[in-house]
Amino acid sequence: MSASQELEQAATKYALEAVRLDKQGSKGMAITMYQKGISTLLKLVRLYPNYGLNSVYIQRAQAYQERIKALQGGGPVQPFNGNGHSQPERTVEMADKQPETGTTDEKASYDELVLQEKPNVKWNQVVGLETAKKAIKEAIVYPVERPDLFPLGWPRGILLFGPPGCGKTLMAAAVATEIDAAFVSVDAASIMSKWLGEAEKNVAKLFNQARNTASNGRPAILFIDELDSLIGMHSNEVGGETRVRNQFLKEMDGVMDKGKNIHAYVIGATNKPWVLDWPFIRRFQKRIMVPLPDYDARLHLLKLYTEHLNLSTDMDLDEFARLAAGFSGSDIRDICQSAHLRVIGELFDSGKASDKDAKPRPLSIADFKGILADRKPSVSPRVISTYNEWSEAFKAL
Ligand SMILES: Nc1ncnc2c1ncn2[C@@H]1O[C@H](COP(=O)(O)OP(=O)(O)OP(=O)(O)O)[C@@H](O)[C@H]1O
Ligand SMILES: [Mg+2]
Repeated sequence: MSASQELEQAATKYALEAVRLDKQGSKGMAITMYQKGISTLLKLVRLYPNYGLNSVYIQRAQAYQERIKALQGGGPVQPFNGNGHSQPERTVEMADKQPETGTTDEKASYDELVLQEKPNVKWNQVVGLETAKKAIKEAIVYPVERPDLFPLGWPRGILLFGPPGCGKTLMAAAVATEIDAAFVSVDAASIMSKWLGEAEKNVAKLFNQARNTASNGRPAILFIDELDSLIGMHSNEVGGETRVRNQFLKEMDGVMDKGKNIHAYVIGATNKPWVLDWPFIRRFQKRIMVPLPDYDARLHLLKLYTEHLNLSTDMDLDEFARLAAGFSGSDIRDICQSAHLRVIGELFDSGKASDKDAKPRPLSIADFKGILADRKPSVSPRVISTYNEWSEAFKAL
């Protein structure tokens, strides 16, 4: 987990605790927790000044600050219900007034953030992940092929969760190709940070678009990446996010009820499933883990990424697949690329690259081991066990 993710999680933890204490009336302790939440959020903003969600974090910190003031003011205080309904006007204002962090030129239009390209990813390009593939075929592909076999309807919401770089996005694209669906893809973090004040409207627009396409007979997949940022710390923020979240929940219900026989699907992807709460989770009837590649998948990926590289005869891909345990698919791609760049670098350093026939030396297992020694898997074993725990509790294949 990156430092920013850890800080974010810590901030969430403090805030949840603060709200809990606040609700039970432990003013003093709640204030301490809000303060911790604020300082963690501000630390996050200072460390990563260009991070897209900073305006959201600042808003949150401001909301906690106000809550602290209210608590310190003495006298009876309105319970902090966390859903923000008590102060909508103020937050609209906050969302619009973001000159320091979200200026108008940063505010992207609907079309800039929504990708409507037709992906061209085939199932066989998605390596391994057999369980996940099977689940997603049963949920989407078969109902599209033979809707008559599904008198009870079919699931509309599919959640893909798991560590970064293991094929969630790839898988969503592959389904869209398979059923020749219109693929509308959007990053939820951008919804929150770039559509300041317009997020709700644009969320509605996204769903309308998917429903309209599907009503006209063509399957539609609405792919929402980084789904967790849609709700973030919904239970303790005030305003904007709650409205977007509620809009989203409403739209999900719309897809489920109204379009009984249309093929509109919402695929959400997240690598922080634990941020999602039950109303959210339950609207994704299928919850599928996309795990780290196992040995076979790593071997397959290594073959794929070294296919066009010049490998020395001592190169033992099986051994390397064993050594690469714990690395994600995208880690493995990076490792292969780094190894290749290394020998290319040598060729240039030797001054021979100007000779058009000169080729880099073959890559040996030592090169790959050298690269491995310099890096760690991008996901720690501790985080992997958190995924497994979440999966045990919430998976629905
Ligand atoms: N199972 C896999 N099969 C083939 N390629 C993979 C696989 N897993 C990862 N990759 C490679 O890693 C890249 C990143 O994968 P992808 O974007 O699908 O990951 P992700 O799970 O969506 O990650 P994130 O949570 O960071 O969005 C892919 O473009 C591909 O090159
Ligand atoms: Mg992705």
